[in-house]
Amino acid sequence: MAARQITIYEDVAALADNAASHIVAQAHAAVAARGHFFIALSGGSTPKHVYQRLAAAPLSEQMPWRQTYVFFGDERAVPLDSSLSNYRMACNSMLKLVPIPDDHVKPILGQGHDLDSAAQHYARVVRSFVPGATPRFDLVLLGMGPDGHTASLFPNSPALAATNELVVATPVAPLEPHVQRITFTTTLINAAAEIVFLVAGADKARTLANVLEGPPKHNVLPSQQVSPVHGEVRWLLDRAAAGELQQNYG
Ligand code: 6PG
Repeated sequence: MAARQITIYEDVAALADNAASHIVAQAHAAVAARGHFFIALSGGSTPKHVYQRLAAAPLSEQMPWRQTYVFFGDERAVPLDSSLSNYRMACNSMLKLVPIPDDHVKPILGQGHDLDSAAQHYARVVRSFVPGATPRFDLVLLGMGPDGHTASLFPNSPALAATNELVVATPVAPLEPHVQRITFTTTLINAAAEIVFLVAGADKARTLANVLEGPPKHNVLPSQQVSPVHGEVRWLLDRAAAGELQQNYG
């Protein structure tokens, strides 16, 4: 079983400060060891706070941007300039504000394409940069929805069974925005050296307790399927999201 670490912060601001500092530290460790840092970003409101911190001093000046390659763990099938796009959110909150080379940022191109082909294309892009028989990201950032979804792996989605693929297209999402998605599979996520969940808000508390402390229900709670093969998973929570956990993680 993968090493799992759970940390509870007072509020989303403290969670985001610590997550951003952790990313900078992991980036330096990866660059020192291998010369590059490969990260997959998540959409969602909690990661946005983290991106804003990485884009501001002092962390923006400490991050090894020129050795960093940014991918996306999932994307909505919308134009990249849509307000619904995870790429656009990451650009506006971080990427366009920092000195990362343009060609180190790899958006998922979903809109206007056959989505299955777009997913296969993105898998090839990942393979061409990220080393490993199953490409091994240095860090995959994930959020979790109130239904237990992560990336765009929704409860009972056929994408959960696509373990021979790295990236797949999904049916229209059961939550807002109701659009099709493209997502990393659990195979690609679980190959990462480190996976960091960012979970904030009381609306996630019940589900989070089920995911972390309840019996396995992998298809109903996709976040339970996240378990790195040779890596670590960290859950960074705010007090509200952790409100229904029974065990003591102090
Ligand atoms: C997306 C995300 C999704 C998100 C969770 C949590 O495209 O919507 O990648 O998996 O991370 O829904 O989002 P919040 O942090 O906004 O709750």
